[in-house]
Amino acid sequence: MYDDLYGQLQVLEREDAPFSQEDRLRAAGRPLLYWYGKYARKLPWRENKDPYRIWISEIMLQQTRVEAVKPYFQRFLEAFPDIPSLAAAEEDRLLKLWEGLGYYSRARNLQKCAKVLTEDYKGQMPADYGALLKLPGIGSYTAGAIASIAFSIPVPAVDGNVLRVVSRLTANREDMTKPAAKKKIEALLAGTMDRMRPGDFNQALIEVGAVVCVPNGEPKCMVCPLASLCLAKRDSLWREIPFKPPKKERRLEKRTVFIVEQGGRIAIRKRPPKGLLASLYELPNVEGELPEESVAQALGLQAKEIIDTEMLPAAKHIFSHVEWNMTGYYVTLAGEPDAGKNERKDWIFVEKEQLKGQYPLPNAFQAYRKFIT
Ligand code: ADE
Repeated sequence: MYDDLYGQLQVLEREDAPFSQEDRLRAAGRPLLYWYGKYARKLPWRENKDPYRIWISEIMLQQTRVEAVKPYFQRFLEAFPDIPSLAAAEEDRLLKLWEGLGYYSRARNLQKCAKVLTEDYKGQMPADYGALLKLPGIGSYTAGAIASIAFSIPVPAVDGNVLRVVSRLTANREDMTKPAAKKKIEALLAGTMDRMRPGDFNQALIEVGAVVCVPNGEPKCMVCPLASLCLAKRDSLWREIPFKPPKKERRLEKRTVFIVEQGGRIAIRKRPPKGLLASLYELPNVEGELPEESVAQALGLQAKEIIDTEMLPAAKHIFSHVEWNMTGYYVTLAGEPDAGKNERKDWIFVEKEQLKGQYPLPNAFQAYRKFIT
């Protein structure tokens, strides 16, 4: 009976003596931890407190949903079971394992960081928040998550979930995309968070944000351990908090993508080491929406080299700052590809199987990939 009465564990607020922000967060600790102990999802990275696992999972979970991360996490750990093996990984293999997760600089930074850890920290994560913060690809959120979850250091780990929960709890209308607003929340939590179980405290806030105080749509206040403390719930403010600044428009870009087949092989090329989708492979593509008559010229081919050109359906891919609106052509070439790299272009002709297993091809080309059978 008492099991679900979070009130049993709470300090009650009196109407004539409202809580300060600090009081409200301190009062949130026990119901949060109680709820987390009872309802936390069983997730692969919660099986133990290995700092390497915590690190990899937290990086993958940035900008990616839990369900999408699970299979990547397992495969990644099988391929690179520890920091030295990640440091020594071949870049194509690393990016192939990341294929589909997006935001590939995360994978590159993981490896950069693994190299620093191997050289300077004997292949171990330092149990020190300040040292973690200095590592490549590790910001205050990730450093806080590793320090608190793996090493029980009482520092906050503030991601979008936590910002949403805390801003609603305290009816804070600031723009949380501003670094100064986030810093204030970090300071507030640093002074009020549970000091005995900091890792559980942080994960509980993340968990409430992920499954109860959800990012899209109405929060599930009926099952929230913080409902009786929450000012946004009291005043029906979930639509207004967290405050969302107007979205920046994405740049629209038209591209034409080619599946070029020759002798059963497919042409791909490696993207430059800097910029969008750096160092990944791609199907040949050019800017603009090309009509069929321009295909040969765009590919630098003579019309007689092409046996067949077939138009493919239009497709769209949304990056964070750019949107590609794509047209596609399946172009079949006469003859056989030259061995290895085609010198005339930066194309590499690969077997269809190799494309599946070896070369990292980003999601942007997913819509066309299914025509390669
Ligand atoms: N999102 C970010 N970190 C997470 C974690 N540790 N568990 C579940 N979802 C998360």
